[in-house]
Amino acid sequence: MKIDILTIFPEMFDHVFSSSIISRAIKENKVVINIHNFRDFSTDPHHKVDDTPYGGGNGMVLTCQPIFDCVEHLKTEESIVILLTPDGIPYKQKIAYELSSKKHIILICGHYEGFDERIRTICDLELSIGDYILTGGELASMVITDSIVRLIPGVIETSSHQNDSFNNNLLDYPTYTKPRNFRGMEVPEVLLSGDHKKIEEYRKIESIKKTKEKRPDLLEK
Ligand SMILES: C[S@@+](CC[C@H](N)C(=O)[O-])C[C@H]1O[C@@H](n2cnc3c(N)ncnc32)[C@H](O)[C@@H]1O
Repeated sequence: MKIDILTIFPEMFDHVFSSSIISRAIKENKVVINIHNFRDFSTDPHHKVDDTPYGGGNGMVLTCQPIFDCVEHLKTEESIVILLTPDGIPYKQKIAYELSSKKHIILICGHYEGFDERIRTICDLELSIGDYILTGGELASMVITDSIVRLIPGVIETSSHQNDSFNNNLLDYPTYTKPRNFRGMEVPEVLLSGDHKKIEEYRKIESIKKTKEKRPDLLEK
């Protein structure tokens, strides 16, 4: 898989993909992540990428030309072009799974007051990572990239993400590690029993209990 991220703040990505599982996935060629400064595509003599909004109002708006040219430069028949925007479809684990099977993803990060509305015409999908406003799409693109890359086959054990929260509309079951007793708090006896059937049943029940308590909306689905 290849992920191209379009931003005017490429330095924000300096350390994000150079540690942990994502860095390993890059080293093992499971994914290629390129950061593009779309300012480099601006035909303006001063490499300007934004301008004041028609009709007046606050802030600066990203212009069409650099983003159109950058996307047209990168796009192939296998690409899916995604715009990060607060009014996009709410990003969910189900979408992460769908995107993890794509060959080429292009993520466009807005900034300042936003982007010229006509930029939407070159996008296949618009995604929001939540009902709040970030200064730019950079953090949103990092969140989306991270959640997709860990689902690419071979990046982590499939069995490990199959039990994650949100699969089957359930939250993950509680987990414990050593020591058996920490400050008087005991590990549930069943997990020490060695009885795999009982452990599986316990985890299923705990997962449903936790979902009922914390996210009943998931069970309603
Ligand atoms: C300050 S925001 C612009 C907000 C815009 N004026 C609005 O109210 O919808 C600048 C950029 O950050 C990104 N952004 C902000 N919040 C986001 C969110 N929740 N999900 C995805 N992208 C977001 C988008 O690319 C957006 O164009």
